Amino acid sequence: MKFFTFLARRFVAGETVDKAMKAVKKLNDKNITCTLDILGEDVTNKKEAEKFADDYISLLDEIKKHKVNSGVSIKLTMTGLRIDKDFCIKNTERIVKKAKQNKNFVRIDMEGSDVTDITLDVFKALYKKYPKHVGIVLQAMLFRAEKDVKDMNKMKATVRLCKGAYKEPKNIAYKKMTDIRENFMKLTKMLLDKGVYPAIATHDKLLINASLDYAKKKKISNDKYEFQMLYGIQRAMQEKLAEDGYNMRVYVPFGTHWFPYFYRRLRERKENVLFILKHFFQK
Ligand code: FDA
Repeated sequence: MKFFTFLARRFVAGETVDKAMKAVKKLNDKNITCTLDILGEDVTNKKEAEKFADDYISLLDEIKKHKVNSGVSIKLTMTGLRIDKDFCIKNTERIVKKAKQNKNFVRIDMEGSDVTDITLDVFKALYKKYPKHVGIVLQAMLFRAEKDVKDMNKMKATVRLCKGAYKEPKNIAYKKMTDIRENFMKLTKMLLDKGVYPAIATHDKLLINASLDYAKKKKISNDKYEFQMLYGIQRAMQEKLAEDGYNMRVYVPFGTHWFPYFYRRLRERKENVLFILKHFFQK
């Protein structure tokens, strides 16, 4: 367990808001914006879900107080999705309302396919009332993603596109990396062409370069989209993109419930354990 804790530090900004603020300030100094994530998921108790929402509301005030450049990312199973949809909408709305007051932004992370539909339902309910202050995530590994991208483009909702971090059955998801990449690129093009300020969330150099090439070819200016990466992964590339004038945002997770997040990072690819060890000693 000690080994995990030691490695988790590379991917999690710390256990407290203070540590998270320090990490964000460091990144902001490099012209990198952030999205702060309080670690936690799969809450089954209303009191706990309300407490997490309260924590996010305080976090939005801390962001304002510290004058850092960061939004927040949340998982709806933390604010009550597995308890009751209406409860989750009400509880999460408190966070989005605060984000509006503070001129900030809430990104709703996407979790496993068992909650994709209900996550989109909650997102749509919140988006209707707070269109400028809430965005969604879609996962390129899912066959359904193309339709979801079309829907979001039609609604003018802002999308973070990622590959997808959850283990999904083969009847609903691409399994081969080449297929996932191909779909990711197809969806990126749709988002760059017709979406609203899409976030291209990947550490995959092939996809980053292909996105840059496409944006250049279509004369889409740098301020129309952003790249996003995870805290502690490909730090040199994060800095390089920011230095080159691209909008770069880093997802900064913090808190005591770090294990499931860290475990997903480890499990993502079989090379990840080696990757982690290699990158642990690299910048
Ligand atoms: P991929 O795994 O294809 O690898 C490309 C290269 O990136 C690797 O060779 C390696 O160098 C590096 N790399 C990537 N991931 C790594 C890791 N974990 N450890 C070490 N090295 C790694 N998923 C989801 O289901 N819902 C969500 O809401 C989000 N949100 C999200 C936000 C942001 C900002 C990012 C960057 C990612 C997510 N994800 C996510 C996770 C995403 O779905 C995906 O699992 C990871 O980003 C890994 O895929 P990549 O395309 O980044 O790299």
